Amino acid sequence: MSRVFVTHQLPGERLPLLAQQCDLSIWEQPGLLSAQGLRAGLAGCQGLVCLLTDRIDAQLLNAMPQLEFVSSMSVGVDHIDVEALTRRGIPLGHTPGVLVDTTADTAFALMLAAARRVAEADRYVRAGNWRLDNAWAPDFFVGKDVSGATLGIIGLGAIGQAIARRAAGFNMRIIAWNRSPMQVPGVEMVALEELLQSSDFVSVNVALTPTTRGLLDAQRISMLKPGVVLVNTARGGIVDEAALAQALDTGQVYAAGVDVFAQEPVAMDNPLLAHPRVVLAPHIGSATELTRARMANIAVDNALAALSGEPMPFCANPQVYR
Ligand code: DGY
Repeated sequence: MSRVFVTHQLPGERLPLLAQQCDLSIWEQPGLLSAQGLRAGLAGCQGLVCLLTDRIDAQLLNAMPQLEFVSSMSVGVDHIDVEALTRRGIPLGHTPGVLVDTTADTAFALMLAAARRVAEADRYVRAGNWRLDNAWAPDFFVGKDVSGATLGIIGLGAIGQAIARRAAGFNMRIIAWNRSPMQVPGVEMVALEELLQSSDFVSVNVALTPTTRGLLDAQRISMLKPGVVLVNTARGGIVDEAALAQALDTGQVYAAGVDVFAQEPVAMDNPLLAHPRVVLAPHIGSATELTRARMANIAVDNALAALSGEPMPFCANPQVYR
């Protein structure tokens, strides 16, 4: 019987099915599994079901000659050396589709919260600062209008398109840049430079790959329209955090909503944490009960397919089946 290691207890109802099909071990401790823990748990296993917090690099893979499949409970696979898996013909499962609307909701929540200073206002009230001598005035907590503004979407995949649908309801002008050409009704495709220069709001929605790492570097951030609100629900490595913090300091960037960081959990000395106009979240883009259960179910279904010698229904490197 194949041995499969699962790096965390999963939501959803499918894990017992997996337990019937293999010799299953699950890492049950609280917190993140360490690299050593992952190596020890995976030793001798044919299958791995992992999270986006598990680093599956070439060094780990080289130590696992028996490995036959990997299934990640995530749509993004930047935590995994996909090329190394593909070279060995090992299929990699992921979970596209089911988290699209949930993540688009998070992007919009961050955009509204950053533009209308919701987190800052919450802190203000809780701290007892809302007093008669310090209260409503014409310029009290004024922010930026979302309705009618121009939204630039960087990366018009499924999540970018779901954000565009929400933006249409806010009567926004929607422009987008995508690595490959595409046409979406109601969205005007533009060059990246034009998007940066003319958007009142920018939403980052590309996958993190070697080509998108550092896409919004200091130079591109300096091209942003003064007063822009930037939202990142994709991956931290795409935006230069130090350059963003500096642009917030100068006021070129008015506010930001940041759900993802280059290092997670984020370091307490990350300059974005010090800025009052940054709305922070700990990578919760897909965090609803239903969506997480759906993601886990797909991750299990990918593993079940691999165990029965079938192609995974959602495979990030389908070339292994050709
Ligand atoms: C993913 O699945 O890649 C998302 O980042 C989870 O929210």
